[in-house]
Amino acid sequence: MTQYIPSARISWTPASWRGKSAAQLPDYPDSAALTEVEERLAASLPLVFAGEIRALREQLAEVAVGRAFLLQGGDCAESFAQFNEPAITDTFRVLLQMAVVLTFAAACPVVKVGRMAGQFAKPRSSPTETQDGRVLPSYRGDIVNGLDFTEAARRPEPRRQLRAYAQSAATLNLLRALAQGGFADLHRVQQWNLDFLHTNPLGARYQELAGRISETLAFMRACRLDAATDPQVRQVQFYTSHEALLLNYEQALTRRDSTTGAWYSGSAHFLWIGERTRQLDGAHVEFARGIANPIGVKLGPTTDSDTLLRLLDALNPTDQPGRLTLISRMGADRIETALPPLIRAVQREGRQVVWSCDPMHGNTLATRTGYKTRPFARILDEVRGFFAIHRAEGSIPGGMHFELTGQDVTECLGGSQAITEEGLADRYHTQCDPRLNALQSLELAFLIAETLKDYRRATQRDHKVENGGRDT
Ligand code: PEP
Ligand code: CO
Repeated sequence: MTQYIPSARISWTPASWRGKSAAQLPDYPDSAALTEVEERLAASLPLVFAGEIRALREQLAEVAVGRAFLLQGGDCAESFAQFNEPAITDTFRVLLQMAVVLTFAAACPVVKVGRMAGQFAKPRSSPTETQDGRVLPSYRGDIVNGLDFTEAARRPEPRRQLRAYAQSAATLNLLRALAQGGFADLHRVQQWNLDFLHTNPLGARYQELAGRISETLAFMRACRLDAATDPQVRQVQFYTSHEALLLNYEQALTRRDSTTGAWYSGSAHFLWIGERTRQLDGAHVEFARGIANPIGVKLGPTTDSDTLLRLLDALNPTDQPGRLTLISRMGADRIETALPPLIRAVQREGRQVVWSCDPMHGNTLATRTGYKTRPFARILDEVRGFFAIHRAEGSIPGGMHFELTGQDVTECLGGSQAITEEGLADRYHTQCDPRLNALQSLELAFLIAETLKDYRRATQRDHKVENGGRDT
């Protein structure tokens, strides 16, 4: 596969974003401390490497043509306080479970990408927050300031970037061990079930599926089929991602690959531009266009086709497969009107993208008791809408993007546990947006698996009809 090289017409450097207007960046009162932090990060090791990033891009190119499916998920915001081994392991485990359920249903590989090991910076709808008449800067994620509503905590502190870097490195170290050190071996598929799931009907459903996989592996071994000992079965490829929001941090971790001369972000394999920072002439698009990592762009319901096509030109001028993932986050109510024009525009121009669905961010609401939440049913509605629309438009629904955790939290309403508005108070732990808990995530994976299976069956049928009844 050819190397992604940004448009040569316009010069780019890791610092060229500084000449553009940047939304959502904090105002650091201590600029000397900021410079010192940037220098220290620039002298640090990258967390991810060019070869891994290229491998992900190749896999995303497979997703774009429907030969693989993308599963991206993790915290809305990682936190310094909730940083511990069980939390990371549990989230990794839930993602593995979901991936197995989807792989089995879709009969195609699932590309696994965590919102982990660097997902710290948050865009906010307002720069300030008011409580009891007091106005303070909004919380922007642990990499910027603290959640406590005090002047000291809310002051942007550049040294937090060093702690975020250290925590990301440690998280990635654990993820690499989990992915490659035996835990993710498909022979252990039955042990991925979380303890509290054993007594739940969904847990039993998962155990049944895991049992079938184990039988298949045993059968393959008995036939002396090599696949049972293939590294693909023994290990998983697991990638990291976060929103490329805090450009000071991102620039400091950008490195030039010595073999190809291309620039890569060393902060994560995959970076995305958020709904609030995708201005065409803004700093975030400027930064992202020059790095060779796969890039995502969030698309909310107000996105128009013209803007989208210009984003494609800016971020992927040579239409490299796997380079760009469009993550629609329309809301269950608006997806039917907002998504089809965008799909048609991309098709008209014959552009290659991965279409992914974030059914979380368009379905957030506030309860009477003041909790930010998301109803499970609305999330599922948006997912189903996404598949139906892509089928109608003849395009490929490539993946899913979730905010989730392996912990047994109560942040989203509904699901098989039937979490109620009153129940949200029990274990509402998120730093920012409400996440699906482990059970809701698994339930959703089973439901998506059915939708995906129907979609693939129907498209294969269409394909057969087009080919005069012959299988191709
Ligand atoms: C997010 O993914 O956490 C986020 C803020 O999303 P969006 O930019 O789509 O609002
Ligand atoms: Co969020």
